[in-house]
Amino acid sequence: MKVGFLQFYPKLFHEKRNLMRSKELLQDVDADLIVLPELATSGYIFANKKELEPYTAEARKGRIADFFRDLSASLDAGLVVGFAEKAQGIFYNSQMLVKPDGNIDLYRKTHLFFKEKFIFEPGDTGFQVFEFRGIKLGLMVCFDWIFPEACRTLALKGTQIICHSANLVLPFCQKAMITRSIENRVFTITSNRIGNEKNAGEEFGFTGMSQITDIKGNVLVSATKKEACVKVVEIEPAVAKDKNVTEFNDIFSDRKPDQYKF
Ligand code: ACM
Repeated sequence: MKVGFLQFYPKLFHEKRNLMRSKELLQDVDADLIVLPELATSGYIFANKKELEPYTAEARKGRIADFFRDLSASLDAGLVVGFAEKAQGIFYNSQMLVKPDGNIDLYRKTHLFFKEKFIFEPGDTGFQVFEFRGIKLGLMVCFDWIFPEACRTLALKGTQIICHSANLVLPFCQKAMITRSIENRVFTITSNRIGNEKNAGEEFGFTGMSQITDIKGNVLVSATKKEACVKVVEIEPAVAKDKNVTEFNDIFSDRKPDQYKF
């Protein structure tokens, strides 16, 4: 399976430009699956819900779903995209898995970072596994990384590849995702954004360095801090079904949940 990430600079308040930039960068890419950053269509720092609202969309209909359905079909690739969702008047920091047949699966960010808490509701979808081309995919968004439970839940449910859309500002995540891969024996694809953003009295510098790790924590491909790019690597997702670290240690059947109670 050929999997990749798109790393770019989503410009705040410029949805049309962000969609076009994604399309331009993905042009002629040969891959089965590409992960895009968190809030890739809208930018990140919004002063309040009112300011965000014009950039929100429904998950399965409307302009953002339609755009990525077309792009997914034309590339013949699954696309995982972070976007601002509006559902029954509630805003979620969401991620869609868009498939070339037009089907869309949805994840809503569970663990909100910093002032996202003032704009979005914590996600209510939980950590689900979605099937694509015979492979089990798990979705998660940015700050979910700091809760090992997120990757663990996905891995225990059979996820082979964790698709991680991010707008990272803290310096630890890329290294932590190597550990998440090792401790769960899963592939991870982190797609992070680049550039600085300033609005509403806040300024963030996003750290780029998107990466794909294998089940042993090897970084198969990575981006620099500043480049806009698409990087693709071929992997064998079946190896993520093997949870044996040694001949005598299956990391899932060796777990002792009765010892973890508090
Ligand atoms: C983050 O969750 N955007 C850091």
